[in-house]
Amino acid sequence: MTEKKKREHFGSKIGIIAAAAGSAVGLGNIYRFPCVAGENGGGAFLIVYLGIVLALGIPMMVGEFVIGRRSQKNPVGAFKALAPDAKGWPLIGYMVVLCGFLILAFYTTVASWTLESVYKSVINYYHGKDLATIEQGFNDSINLTVRPLLWQAVFIFISAFVIAKGISKGIEKYSKILMPVLVIILIVLCVKSLMLPGASEGAKFLFKPDFSKIDSKVLISALGQAFFSMSLGMGALITYGSYVSRKDNIVTTSLMVGLSDTFIAILAGIIIFPAAFSFGIQPEAGPSLAFNTLPMLFNQMKGGYFFCLIFFILLVIAAWTSALSLLEVVVSYMTEELNLSRRKATIYSSVGVFIISILAAMSLHDGSGLTIFGFTVFDGLDKITSMVLMTLGGLLTVLFLGWKIKKQDFEDEFTNGGTVNKRLNKIFYFIIKYLAPVAIAVIMFSQFLM
Ligand code: PFF
Repeated sequence: MTEKKKREHFGSKIGIIAAAAGSAVGLGNIYRFPCVAGENGGGAFLIVYLGIVLALGIPMMVGEFVIGRRSQKNPVGAFKALAPDAKGWPLIGYMVVLCGFLILAFYTTVASWTLESVYKSVINYYHGKDLATIEQGFNDSINLTVRPLLWQAVFIFISAFVIAKGISKGIEKYSKILMPVLVIILIVLCVKSLMLPGASEGAKFLFKPDFSKIDSKVLISALGQAFFSMSLGMGALITYGSYVSRKDNIVTTSLMVGLSDTFIAILAGIIIFPAAFSFGIQPEAGPSLAFNTLPMLFNQMKGGYFFCLIFFILLVIAAWTSALSLLEVVVSYMTEELNLSRRKATIYSSVGVFIISILAAMSLHDGSGLTIFGFTVFDGLDKITSMVLMTLGGLLTVLFLGWKIKKQDFEDEFTNGGTVNKRLNKIFYFIIKYLAPVAIAVIMFSQFLM
C-alpha cells in the first residue's frame, strides 16, 4: 500500500509558494540571520548576502526544483533516476537526506527554546526583569532536564502530525494558513521596534555598509547563511520540487520564494538591531539577541505582554514550517526507497530525530562532556552540516545539473517544454554549470584554510 498510488502534488501555485517559503523562512531568518549579520559587520554582510542570494541562491533553488520535478522522486530516487548508469551520483542523494535529518535534530533543539519562550511569555515571566536576569533564566532553562525535552517532543509531534497528513492536506494547507500570519506579526513588530528611542543606530548598523569589513570570513558566513536560509543543499527543495506540477513556473516560484526569504530576514534585522541598540546590547550578542533582547524590548512597550507572546509564537511558526520540509525529505525517502507506509516513515524518522535532538540538547548542559570533534553535539551538528554537508551537497548538486544530466533535459524542465523562461535559461544554465561550482568550491575550501 505504498508507492503504487499516484504521486501527490501541491494543489495550487500559491500553495507551492507558501510551502517552499515556509521551508525557507525559519529560525534561519529570524534568529540566525541577525546573529550572523551582527557578527560580520551588519551592512557589509547584508550586501554580500544579497549578492549571493541573487547570483547563486536563486539559480540553485531552480536547479533543485529541476531535479525534483524532472524525476518526480525523493532525493535518493531522484539522483538514481536521472543518472541511471552512474554508480556514484546517487550517493549525493543519501548525503542530502542525512544532512536534512541531522539539521532537523539541532533545529529541534532551537525550536524547543522558542516553545520555552512562549511558555515564559504566557506566565508573564519577563515582566519587570532586567537583561542579566533574563539571560540567566535562559541559561538555566537550557540546563533543565525535563522541560526542554518536553518542548522538543511537542515540536516533533506537531511536525509529524502535519507530515502524516500528506502534501496537499498537510504541508500545503498548514503553510497557507501559517505563512500570512507570520508576515503580519513581523510587520507589526517592525513598526514597533523602529519607534524606539535610538532605533536609528540599529537601522544604520544594518543598512550602512562598511566595505572595509568584507573579507573571506564574511563571504563564507554569507554563503553558509544563504544556503541555510534558502533551504539549499539538503534535498528539501528537490523533494518539494517533485510535488510541483508540470504546468507551474519554477523560475518565478524560486524568485518569489528567494526574495521573500531575504525580505523576511531583513525584517527580522529591522526588529532586532534597533531594539538591541536602543538597550545598549552588542549586535554580536548571538542567540541572546532574539531570545533575551527582544523580551526587553517588549518590557518597555505598551501591550508588551501581547507582543512578546506573538513574537515567540511567530518563531514557533517559522520553525514549524521549516521542520516540515526537513522531515518530508526523510519521510519521502523512507516511503519511496524503503517502501514504508507514510505513517510508519513519519514515526520512525520522528523518533530518530528526537533521539539525536536529546543528545544535542543535553550537550549544552554545563559540563555535560557530550562532544564530537571537540564541539558540543549541538555545535558539532551545526558545523558538520553547514560547513561540510550542506555546501558539499550544493556543490555536487550543481555539478550534477551542469555536467551530468543532459542540457536538453535541464532546458525542458526550466522552460516547461519550451513555453516559458526561454531567455533566462542560458543565463541560469551558465551560472549552474560554471559560476556556482567555482564559487562554492572556492568559498568552501577557503574556510578550511582559515
Ligand atoms: N531554511 C530554514 C531556515 O531558514 O530556518 C532552515 C532549513 C529548512 C534548512 C529546510 C534546510 C532545509 F532543508
